Amino acid sequence: MARLVLITGSSSGIGYEMAKVCAAKGHDLIVVARREDRLTALKQEIEQTYGVTVWPYAADLTDAQARQTLFDWTQTLGQPLYALVNNAGFGLLEPFAKTDWEQQNAMLQLNIVALTHLTHLFMPGMIAQGQGRILNVASTAAFLPGPYMAVYYASKAFVQSFTEAIASELEGTGVTATTLCPGPTESEFQDVAGMGELEFFSGKLPTSAEVATFGYQAMEKGERTAVHGLVNNLLVFATRLQSDKALATMMKGFQQPKGSPN
Ligand SMILES: NC(=O)c1ccc[n+]([C@@H]2O[C@H](COP(=O)([O-])OP(=O)(O)OC[C@H]3O[C@@H](n4cnc5c(N)ncnc54)[C@H](OP(=O)(O)O)[C@@H]3O)[C@@H](O)[C@H]2O)c1
Repeated sequence: MARLVLITGSSSGIGYEMAKVCAAKGHDLIVVARREDRLTALKQEIEQTYGVTVWPYAADLTDAQARQTLFDWTQTLGQPLYALVNNAGFGLLEPFAKTDWEQQNAMLQLNIVALTHLTHLFMPGMIAQGQGRILNVASTAAFLPGPYMAVYYASKAFVQSFTEAIASELEGTGVTATTLCPGPTESEFQDVAGMGELEFFSGKLPTSAEVATFGYQAMEKGERTAVHGLVNNLLVFATRLQSDKALATMMKGFQQPKGSPN
């Protein structure tokens, strides 16, 4: 039986490419996102190319009941989950005081609560099986404060800290938890976040396929924190040498939206 992987946020970007990387390794897949048409197209592409089984599952993961229903449905498949890839997430570029609370709350629900809830639902089954993989997608944003994307950066700091802690709890169980930290990457992320005009997102970025391949390898090896790319690793190292205040000032310069007074 092919080992089953569930990937959230698989209708575009890193999650979409992660689905293809996993399929190429022979995994059956559950692909989750809101845009069902994209998931159905992904199923067709993957099943034809790789001969594995793909279950598309349309859900808004900010909804707690939808997450529980997803978990309950997976229990009817008769195939235990080998790996959970908590990839769905989004950011917003805007001065915090001007943000819409509903959007900020949705970000917290998706980036933090959904990831934590799905981990809580699936982890006991993996431990009982004596094997499993959890891959939580954070960001290099996890390592520093991010003015004008304050909630997003803080949400990724949560993901990194949470995943490192459960990875420690999981030692000796056969289950591992890995944090994937991409830097700026080609995907729909920038458009969704309204970051299109920022200079540090211009130029040639790594592709989602490159990041997904790197993340899959780190997950399979059971690495704890996997930062993608040399420049990002240097950046993360440099954050250890600076005060949070200095880092916030630097990021404020990089991320200041056009027309923002300060
Ligand atoms: N791209 C970057 O520069 C970058 C850098 C560091 C970290 N990351 C992280 O990488 C992860 C993947 O992002 P990406 O770059 O691949 O961006 P993306 O192309 O925008 O993909 C985001 C995915 O999340 C899904 N999603 C959004 N809201 C959802 C919801 N309420 N319920 C279920 N699924 C939802 C989207 O699908 P639907 O819209 O169909 O629901 C989509 O499949 C995110 O956690 C992001 O924070 C990205």
